[in-house]
Amino acid sequence: MSNLSCAPARLLTIAIDGPAGAGKSTVARGVAARLGYTYLDTGAMYRALAWATLNRGIDPTDHATIGALARQLDIRLQPADSELHPTRVFVDGIEITHEIRTPEISAITSPISAIPEVRTTMVALQQEMGARGGIVMEGRDIGTVVFPNADVKVFLTASSHRRAERRAAELEVRGTPIPFAQLVRDIEERDQRDSGRDVAPMVPAADAVILDSDSLSADDVVQQIVHWHREAEQRRG
Ligand code: C5P
Repeated sequence: MSNLSCAPARLLTIAIDGPAGAGKSTVARGVAARLGYTYLDTGAMYRALAWATLNRGIDPTDHATIGALARQLDIRLQPADSELHPTRVFVDGIEITHEIRTPEISAITSPISAIPEVRTTMVALQQEMGARGGIVMEGRDIGTVVFPNADVKVFLTASSHRRAERRAAELEVRGTPIPFAQLVRDIEERDQRDSGRDVAPMVPAADAVILDSDSLSADDVVQQIVHWHREAEQRRG
């Protein structure tokens, strides 16, 4: 029997980081679908924790209680076939897919995700979920902290104006429009918090490729990443 003919394809890890609204979800899902890989939205995990914090009336500045909550919560993610809500999110069995996408949750997720105990718990969960490879993980620190040895690392970015336009279109479809100037302000504020924090700041990994989605279509980015994945497979043999 030939070992070569039945050797399973090696499953790789793809890290897609970048700021809010750069198109990470669309691209990460597209790449996962092309490769038959699992897609994981790590932002949904931090959002679920923020939702639970508010829901339980916990003071968002009470780091110790939120750190303990992160360890106790049962957060589950399930893929969904929807452009608006690509991931179904459950906390302790309650579905909160829609609830976690409000501007209020976006705003408090950012400071909550900067709590060191929160990151330790979330990063360990994410590493466990991606341990076998075959995963496209999107977030802010995947290529720097969660999987520093990821096979393909992309930092997807775009101008804040373009990103606010994308958010505006999403909120319009959801029936919860927000004035454009406020959207730009919210996005820039969140960027500053996410990249200025002490723990796992949002920065491109030294070996990440930086792609600007202002000048590229989502399909172009997906194709490019699938190509890098093929090259990484060949390198790994
Ligand atoms: O990706 P999304 O916009 O849903 O992420 C919400 C927030 O969660 C981000 O603004 C960031 O503060 C936090 N986050 C993080 N690390 C990740 C993913 C998200 O700190 N890996």
